[in-house]
Amino acid sequence: MTQALATHTVVAVIGAGAMGAGIAQVAAAAGHTVKLLDNRPGAAVQAIDGICAQFEKMAAKGKLSLEAAQAAGARLQAAEHLADLFDAGLVVEAIVENLQVKQALFKDLEAVVSEACILASNTSSISITAIGAALKNPQRLAGLHFFNPAPLMALVEVVSGLATELAVATTLFATAAAWGKTPVHAKSTPGFIVNRVARPYYAEALRVLHEGGADCATLDACCREAGGFRMGPFELMDMIGHDVNFAVTQSVWRAFFNAPRFLPSLTQQDLVDAGFLGKKSGRGFYSYQDSALKPLP
Ligand code: NAI
Repeated sequence: MTQALATHTVVAVIGAGAMGAGIAQVAAAAGHTVKLLDNRPGAAVQAIDGICAQFEKMAAKGKLSLEAAQAAGARLQAAEHLADLFDAGLVVEAIVENLQVKQALFKDLEAVVSEACILASNTSSISITAIGAALKNPQRLAGLHFFNPAPLMALVEVVSGLATELAVATTLFATAAAWGKTPVHAKSTPGFIVNRVARPYYAEALRVLHEGGADCATLDACCREAGGFRMGPFELMDMIGHDVNFAVTQSVWRAFFNAPRFLPSLTQQDLVDAGFLGKKSGRGFYSYQDSALKPLP
């Protein structure tokens, strides 16, 4: 049976946004030294402060001992340059959802890390095969797709592209399991598993809204209360971020040669254009200005 990466393996996380910070938290809690890098000045340090505050909260609730919380916080380091990641045994990329930007980053990384280092992308929807095509050694690249918020959501998709070596996928699977997650193997088909299956959930809800069938709050309440979903489609899109969610929809639509069933919504395009990205910007389908969830007119 394939072994998980040993806890002395240094894990690098690139991108200290919503997902990168969450993944860094999971890896540090599991015992790894974690180097967090972001190209926005101060972002990695700010994310580490936030993660340490989370560890302290967990200690206050008795979920962790104070010593364990402090030790986990101390395992997090803000990296300033790509070269600082030289000793990583695993790099998890969680930067902007753009093929060319991700390819450029992984190409630069290949020149920095050892041959044995596993490269992983947290991409929601970009083909792992396509990212790997830019690499000298695409065998060591796989998707390691966490869900938001990464410390709380159990599922992790371990995504194999055409070139991904089986040993890389099985090591990531075992590592995600050792980190307390529930991994599942997936092939690099558009949207992988969950984001493919979830597209109609958002799309049909948006169609009902366009047709004036019901408002967001009613649709969300129906799915949550009667359907048993943890969140309705609009509150979920607001939480994910419309920039991220819309990019996934466009990517799945294009990957299926513009199939009408995956057609992106103009309403979501408007929200992205306006900068109404959901919870993170204070406004999406709902307003979060005074922290209360209020449906917009
Ligand atoms: P975010 O916008 O919160 O964070 C992205 C971070 O990456 C930012 O801090 C940005 O400064 C940094 N960054 C951008 N380009 C960079 C570069 N070249 N080098 C270093 N840092 C760079 O985005 P989020 O939501 O964390 O998403 C990140 C990735 O995770 C995307 O690929 C997204 O599709 C995926 N994802 C997002 C989920 C979500 O619910 N938001 C869920 C699962 C996956």
